[in-house]
Amino acid sequence: MKITYLGHACFTIEAGGVKLLVDPFLKHNPNYCDALWEQAARPDYILVTHGHGDHVGDTIEIAARSGATLISNFEICNWLHAAGVERFIDLNPGGTATLADGGVTVTMTPAIHSSSMASEGGDNIYGGLACGFVIRCGAEAVYYAGDTCLFGDMRLVDELYKPTVGLLPIGGKYTMDAEAAAYACNNFFNFRTVIPMHYDTFPPISADPARFSALVKKGAVRMLALGEALEI
Ligand code: NI
Ligand code: MN
Repeated sequence: MKITYLGHACFTIEAGGVKLLVDPFLKHNPNYCDALWEQAARPDYILVTHGHGDHVGDTIEIAARSGATLISNFEICNWLHAAGVERFIDLNPGGTATLADGGVTVTMTPAIHSSSMASEGGDNIYGGLACGFVIRCGAEAVYYAGDTCLFGDMRLVDELYKPTVGLLPIGGKYTMDAEAAAYACNNFFNFRTVIPMHYDTFPPISADPARFSALVKKGAVRMLALGEALEI
């Protein structure tokens, strides 16, 4: 498995011959550069955790160019299908999609967060349940928590799927902060590697990843620079 950080909460995960792009917020990221777009291009699947703009991001454009299949909740799949995304797999928490090419599965997990899309008139359109994902391939399993607070049922994610790598938000305000994310690592999971995300993109979610690293007592924290990849 190869995990590449594309800024904010966007990653590509390449496993079993398929390329997954998660929460592709690229062009409106203040740290955007063309190299990130190149890495995001031509995914086989696009995973979207919830309806907020910093997660749906460039899904419509990338899906149109690549023909990628969207994996998201029922409501977001319907909304993006109406907006032109042709192929989708709609899940709800607990559901698993088995991907065509090589023994990769994507399971939708709960997250505690809101989910809505902004209409042109400024109203919020219902965006279903915010979620996370567990991506499994062989002996490896990646838990991508999504935007969420700390919650006790994260224990079940560990018990059921035994994730070896965790991608956790640490920016606070809208999600877990560094203390809460470290609590999850130390008490709920047995990650070999933890990658912090969803911090420092905007001033309200500034966080110190070195402090997060110091707080984590189980597993190694790996801070990925923009465009940097980790092979597991
Ligand atoms: Ni959000
Ligand atoms: Mn967010």
